[in-house]
Amino acid sequence: MNNHKIDAVIFDLDGIITDTAHFHFLAWKQLAEEIGISIDEEFNERLKGISRMDSLELILEEGNRQHDFTSIEKEEMAERKNANYVNYLDELTPEHVLPGIMDLIKSIKTDGIPIGLASVSKNAETVLRALNLVEAFDYCADASKISKSKPDPEIFLTACKGLNAVPERSIGIEDAVAGVESIKASGMFAVGVGKQLSKADYQLMSTGQLQWEKIKEAFNKWND
Ligand code: BG6
Ligand code: MG
Repeated sequence: MNNHKIDAVIFDLDGIITDTAHFHFLAWKQLAEEIGISIDEEFNERLKGISRMDSLELILEEGNRQHDFTSIEKEEMAERKNANYVNYLDELTPEHVLPGIMDLIKSIKTDGIPIGLASVSKNAETVLRALNLVEAFDYCADASKISKSKPDPEIFLTACKGLNAVPERSIGIEDAVAGVESIKASGMFAVGVGKQLSKADYQLMSTGQLQWEKIKEAFNKWND
């Protein structure tokens, strides 16, 4: 097996760096209940990696209420969900970085490889600040830099560009079905953390299982 050059490693935020994916779920569940729609964790898999407005549209479709609200009412609902979500962020501290992530970041840095972020969240900076992780990233692609949310490749391509990285020589790490699709559509090597991610090139069940040596091995095999 040959060692292939790695230009960059690009992380998703919600559900990979920290468990804000669960906060998004709780906040959407509360909003959905207020309009008589019930959603569960399985349905929530479809919301991961999707922008705020696209998530609301999926929830309204799920409750067959997609034609019941004006755009102003939808904006207001999305804002209400965000207020619920931001309340949860008050609890976030550096202790909430998920297992395995700090060690992984350290190992990648030891190899001198740039690290990027690809998150469609408008709250990405607030979350990174709460975790004290702003400095860890060489480049952050967030909602302000893109027009299409995952599964479109735009966000991972933007992160690669910001890091001067060739996508085919870069690795993306994701917990969402839409996120893995976005990585694959960009031409990168996809690490998927969680179930339903069989389209990933390398799949694990939790961040605690992320090991830099094993990821490199899988990347090298993919390239051979
Ligand atoms: C993604 C989350 O990171 O950000 C989605 O996986 C979320 O669940 C999206 O909807 C947008 O987040 P925000 O903070 O802009 O509402
Ligand atoms: Mg995610």
